Parts: sequence; structure tokens; C-alpha cells
Amino acid sequence: MNPDSRIYSTFLSTFRSLYGQTPDVVFQAPGRVNCIGDHTDYQGGWSLPIAITLATTVGLSWRTDGLIQLGSALDTMPRWQGPLDKLQEAGRQADHDAPLQGLFGFAAAAVDLLAIDRGFDLWVSSTLPAGSGLSSSAALALALLSCLAHPSPMDPKRLVQLAQTVENRYLGVHTGILDQTAIVFAKAGQAVLIDAGKHLATPIPFDFSSRGYRFWIIDTKTPRTLAASAYDIRVQEAKDASMSLGLDLLCQASPKDFERISDSRLRRRARHIISENLRVQSTVECAKNGDWAGVADLLSESHRSLRDDYEVSTPTLDKVVSVVVDLRKTLSWGNAGARLTGAGFGGSVVALLPQDATAKLQEALTEAFPEELTRPVATAIDGAAEGLRQLG
Ligand code: GLA
Repeated sequence: MNPDSRIYSTFLSTFRSLYGQTPDVVFQAPGRVNCIGDHTDYQGGWSLPIAITLATTVGLSWRTDGLIQLGSALDTMPRWQGPLDKLQEAGRQADHDAPLQGLFGFAAAAVDLLAIDRGFDLWVSSTLPAGSGLSSSAALALALLSCLAHPSPMDPKRLVQLAQTVENRYLGVHTGILDQTAIVFAKAGQAVLIDAGKHLATPIPFDFSSRGYRFWIIDTKTPRTLAASAYDIRVQEAKDASMSLGLDLLCQASPKDFERISDSRLRRRARHIISENLRVQSTVECAKNGDWAGVADLLSESHRSLRDDYEVSTPTLDKVVSVVVDLRKTLSWGNAGARLTGAGFGGSVVALLPQDATAKLQEALTEAFPEELTRPVATAIDGAAEGLRQLG
């Protein structure tokens, strides 16, 4: 039995023991790591994420008595039980930082959007850490919506849009469609090239492993406090920058357009978005040609832009990126590159290194972060995982 099927059979037996029956439907939504192309989606730009094997699983069975029962393996609190209108109330009062409470908010928003008027039993389990920049919120919203829509098939683009609304409404942050699109359209072994302006998701062969490379997610374990408000400020600055160029979106700008912006802060914001879009396209070219050393350089260039022009990095993220980039000097072949991934302000770094540099990476992290408790945790990725799927 592979670990996946072991997790799934534990999920099913927990569901049966809690609710006395097998779920009518089970969906699993993976997390995503964005390899390159951050803070571009809300300006109609490009990004290149892959799905990872860490995932959130949601199971549901419909009831005939109008009652709702919710529970999450992430929480030690007892299950919640109540009628539909009480769920909305619990959702309004939910505390974002407590897993089961967060589930109220997400479930209340999803039930409302899909106009659900009957009861159900629902159980959630997850291997995806929250707050690490790996899209645990989008994964939860997508798996919940897919279960609640069952047995009607859901159009993937509508699903993306509904999941975005759940997050925007419940968390109050004006995020783009990167995370949801990545998770819905991901395919094993491939990256998803997202053109957010055109709502297009194109699979790109992404075989770094057979070329001797390995991606890493390095979780800095640093809280993303103020991330929501800071994110929204960046969204507004990007809008101001595009308006000052007379454009609807910065994805319509040509490479040197940012030079025409007189305000220096907005000019830097625009320079990041415009150059990041070009880096995504260069990364796709490099990946097609098997030039993973080139991809590593693009990652590090992207980090510099996110750090200096977009100002969404933190000292810990910068330190982790430097640890990786400094390894270049010690490699016997190949290249090393890294960047913060996702919104920034904490969370994770994505790094690309030759497979045989694994021990060196761990040693360098231990040396740079001697305190075990605060040492970033590196997880290897040897291939892109499958996207959202129905397990049962
Ligand atoms: C978060 C948002 C995405 C995207 C990234 C930054 O993950 O949910 O829409 O804007 O930040 O690229």
C-alpha cells in the first residue's frame, strides 16, 4: 500500500466511525508551489506553478434532516453540529487562525455561493501546512466546493472563480486566480503556465528530475502577520501604476514602459510585474530546452525583484535564498537558485538545486540557523503532482 492509499483508508474509516456511513463523495486538492511569476496574476500576467503531494481531503455525505455536521482532523475541538442558519452565524464569527473555526467560514461561504439548502456530514483532513505559502486556503475552498456541488459536475473555470470568491469574501483579501487555477489544472509531471488575463492554463512539460535537478520548498516557519493588508496595498499600487501608464493592466505594458512612471515607488512596482512576466516566459523556454541551470538563475533574479522592487520579502526569506545561492560555489556541476514563493511577507522559499547537493543544503541550513526550533524546514520535490481530483 503506498502512503497515499494509507492516508485515504484512514480518512474513510474516520468518516465511517464519526458519521456511521461512507462519504457520498471525496475530493482531494493539493497545495501548489509557484515556481516563478508572483504578484503578476492580479495584473493579468503570467505564472508557472506546480502542484505538490501535500494535500487537503474533504468527504461529504448528504443528509435528509437538514442538519450539518462539520469536523476536521486538524483540530482537537469536538465536531460542530447545527442547522444551516447557525452555520452562517458560526461563519461570521469565525476566527481565521483556528482550523475548525476557519472551516466554518469557508463552509458558510461555499454553502451560500452554491445555494445549498440541505444538510450534510463533512470531514476534512490535510497534510498541507497552513500559513506556509502553499495555498492551503485555496485547496480547502476547492475541495469543499467540489464536494458541495456533487453530484453536479462543476465547470473548472467556474470552480476557480467560486473558490476565489470564497477566499476573498471570507478572508477579506483581494487575491488573484493563481492558486485556484494551479490546483484545478495541475497535471502530474507538468507545470501550469497561467495567463491570468486570458484565464488560460497551459500544461508545460517540467522534467527537472531526469536532468539531475530537484526543487525544494523551504518553509521559514515565520508567521505572515500583516500579510493580508500588505497584500492589498500591493494590489492597489499595481493598479495605480497601470493607471498612470493609461493601461487597464500591466500585462499590456511593453518592457521599458515602467520608465515613464514618475513616482519612484510605483515605477519599481511596475518594473517588478513587467520583468516578472518576461522571466516566466524565459523559464518556459529554458524548461523546454532542459536548461535547468538557466531556470535557477531566473529564480534568483525573480527574488531580487520581489525583494527590492516589490518589497514583499523578509530578512528570513532573504537569508534562506542567500544560503541556497551561496551553494553555487561549492557545487561540482550545475547551478542553484531560489526565490520566495507566493505572496511573501513570510512563508516559503522555492529552490532549485542538483539532486546531489541535498546534504550540502541541509548542512548549510543547519549552519545558518543553529537553533533547531527556528530552522527552516526543507522538503524535496522530485516531480509535479496531480491537481484536484475525486477520490471517491
Ligand atoms: C497569493 C494570492 C495569489 C497571488 C500570489 C502572489 O498566493 O492568492 O493570487 O497573487 O499571492 O503571486
